[in-house]
Amino acid sequence: MTSEPLFATSQDTPDLDPVGRVIPNFPAPSRLSSHGPARIIAMCNQKGGVGKTTTTINLAAGLAELGRRVLIVDFDPQGAASVGLGVATHELDATVYNLLVDRSWPVEEVIVPTEVPGLDILPANIDLSAAEVQLVGEVARESVLTRVLRPVMDIYDVILIDCQPSLGLLTVNALTAADGVLIPLECEFFALRGVALLVETIEKVRDRLNPRLEVDGIIATMFDARTLHAREVIARVYEAFGDTLMHTVIGRTVKFPDASVAAEPITTYAPGHSGAQAYRQLARELIARGDAA
Ligand SMILES: Nc1ncnc2c1ncn2[C@@H]1O[C@H](COP(=O)(O)OP(=O)(O)OP(=O)(O)O)[C@@H](O)[C@H]1O
Ligand SMILES: [Mg+2]
Repeated sequence: MTSEPLFATSQDTPDLDPVGRVIPNFPAPSRLSSHGPARIIAMCNQKGGVGKTTTTINLAAGLAELGRRVLIVDFDPQGAASVGLGVATHELDATVYNLLVDRSWPVEEVIVPTEVPGLDILPANIDLSAAEVQLVGEVARESVLTRVLRPVMDIYDVILIDCQPSLGLLTVNALTAADGVLIPLECEFFALRGVALLVETIEKVRDRLNPRLEVDGIIATMFDARTLHAREVIARVYEAFGDTLMHTVIGRTVKFPDASVAAEPITTYAPGHSGAQAYRQLARELIARGDAA
């Protein structure tokens, strides 16, 4: 006769996220048999250095690993997403800037493939800093990016827009083109400062320009589970936003800046690292939530 174990083994214990929710098992989604139309997601937070670009690059790579066709739109004149994927931004004939200000450029000619199969990028460089001023006088100045992306909507499954740290006209263009917004939040004391203004901006864009816009999720980044402080911050975020906070949390590790220097996603730079696994899980969670194909 076999007796039941008195205590559940660790295998039976469900994994909990940092706010104590059971992490569901996000299954590897089935391969897609055809591609498009793309769902557009803006990676947005006007606070600088919270992990927008890191999340754009690595979430995109995670989605591409799952067989999704992904386009990153670098929408920051700093060009960090482009550089982080190995694009020599100063040598380009054209960038997203040209597409915004000159209708004669075909978007297909400006898109650059990356080393990651299935992942392309619409690069940016410092030229983009002039766009904000130049677009002010345009008719429908908020929907210029929507127009630029229209011809490639059927080629991609997901388009991720890496926004700059501001709520100016470029970011409003990203929000007007997008179906959803992902908000990376760094787990530190002032994380929530400014989020009210961001949410207000999202609501204004939804009311006036883009009724389908929704907040897909908040992603806690640079989380250090060893500090009480980080755990307090994430508890506050959960209090304020409930299940908009995604289960997947990105830990703080120097592997991310290291991967940027190597100009590749962490999923190829350090494929077995916990940071790579976190972004793979984020990709599966996004698909499981229905926020990506
Ligand atoms: N999880 C992490 N752990 C450690 N460092 C990280 C992590 N995520 C990002 N970083 C580093 O923090 C810095 C800022 O990250 P990132 O560039 O992704 O933020 P951002 O929000 O795009 O910044 P900006 O507002 O300037 O565009 C970078 O040096 C990046 O390598
Ligand atoms: Mg950035």
